[in-house]
Amino acid sequence: MNLNVSRTTSTTRTCLAVVLAAGEGTRMKSAKPKVLHHVANRSLLGHVLATLTEAGATRYAVVVGPDRADVEKETHRILPDASIFVQRERLGTGHAVLSAREALAQKPDDVIVAYADTPLVTKETFAKLRAPLAEGAAVVVMAFEAADPTGYGRLITSGDQLLAIREHKDATEAERTITLCNGGLMAIRGDVALMLLDKVGNDNAKNEYYLTDIVEIAHTAGLRAVVTVVPEEEVHGVNDRAQLATAERMIQSRLREATMAAGTTLVAPETIFLSYDTKLGTDVIVEPHVVFGPGVTVETGVTIHSFSYLEGTHVSAGAGIGPFARLRPGAAIGAKAKVGNFVEIKNTDLGAGAKVSHLTYLGDAKVGAETNIGAGTITCNYDGYNKHLTQIGEGAFIGSNSSLVAPVTIGDGAFVGSGSVITDSVPPDALALGRGRQVTKEDWAVAFRAKAKAAKGK
Ligand code: UD1
Ligand code: CA
Repeated sequence: MNLNVSRTTSTTRTCLAVVLAAGEGTRMKSAKPKVLHHVANRSLLGHVLATLTEAGATRYAVVVGPDRADVEKETHRILPDASIFVQRERLGTGHAVLSAREALAQKPDDVIVAYADTPLVTKETFAKLRAPLAEGAAVVVMAFEAADPTGYGRLITSGDQLLAIREHKDATEAERTITLCNGGLMAIRGDVALMLLDKVGNDNAKNEYYLTDIVEIAHTAGLRAVVTVVPEEEVHGVNDRAQLATAERMIQSRLREATMAAGTTLVAPETIFLSYDTKLGTDVIVEPHVVFGPGVTVETGVTIHSFSYLEGTHVSAGAGIGPFARLRPGAAIGAKAKVGNFVEIKNTDLGAGAKVSHLTYLGDAKVGAETNIGAGTITCNYDGYNKHLTQIGEGAFIGSNSSLVAPVTIGDGAFVGSGSVITDSVPPDALALGRGRQVTKEDWAVAFRAKAKAAKGK
């Protein structure tokens, strides 16, 4: 007999994630909803939704405040199938979760309640929060030992059982000495979630429907509630810009650790800024003070020199970037290519082994393998209305300080003389000169000086 067949594991259980995103965010002093502010180049909401997905959520109910079309838009950008529920009045966390009644009524195996302004909870924590549900617990509360418990709900326990959560304002002096606090997140067994939530009243200090009351309700009904203790860092919520910066610092530190563990050298990790999706290969070396915007992939053996900024870019194996390079969206740098200082590249394929060593702008271009782009080359890609393509073949040589006026094509192996303005296409292996011919006048300076001195003496 195969015992695994009938066993329900957390990976096969359905899981509804109820994400409270109705945060007022007045302390942010922003026109933008709090949960749409970014850390590591992704919204707070985006981080939470992504982590829930990694933790095995199968359905999403995002609870938003009234007039929050932008939160709905961000949700659907990330998860097109997520359901949006509007909490019209702010009557408490229990009331907020009940806004998703329709989703709860479908009785998923597990329900996770998460806050969109609490982006540091890991997928491991969400998984740990769900696990006891499969073993019969009705409610699992994410707990932490608070350095300062003021303001948090206190956990009243007996052995490994959680009896009740007392909100700070409702707690007695004795209860306020408890330091084990509610981090806010919970897992609830789907078959009892609605029953528990519907019993929550608002007879308390804030006249709110407290989500936390379901613990005592469960206990009274003979159901089991337990805690999962996590480090306080994971509970960090964002209510103002200083807490946003703290979240950024903590997420950067995690990203740097993960990057180094995967085989990238960060010479001075505290000076490197990564995005949530930065992918750096093994034996990549990143010198101090490099910033990665979203959408960067760097293959193995690449060195990124100091003060470079990369976004929306793919760098192939063995290439060298910077110092002081700016790679913008659509830059694709070929294997062993070299991009030097004060070079800006946008929407351009740079072929394998090609060199762009100094002071250059390449936009909307294709550059063939082993081509050399001289210092001060500019692709003139924009006419004020449209962008145009510059195509340069393989093994070509663009002399320094040339302007390539797009659309224009330069063939394989062609040369462009320094200081040229190229407006017509250049065939393969040709030399193109687009500049005035040099005029040299022998002894001109001697005559000039004599004339000028005489004029001054008058
Ligand atoms: C809550 C918990 C408390 C816990 C603390 C951890 C309750 C009653 N209390 O308290 O035990 O220690 O979090 O941070 O749950 N929200 C809504 N609609 C509402 C009310 C709140 O969407 O009507 C959202 C908020 O935007 C926020 C979250 O729920 O994201 C928590 O609400 P908040 O009012 O900050 O709860 P706390 O008093 O901090
Ligand atoms: Ca709070």
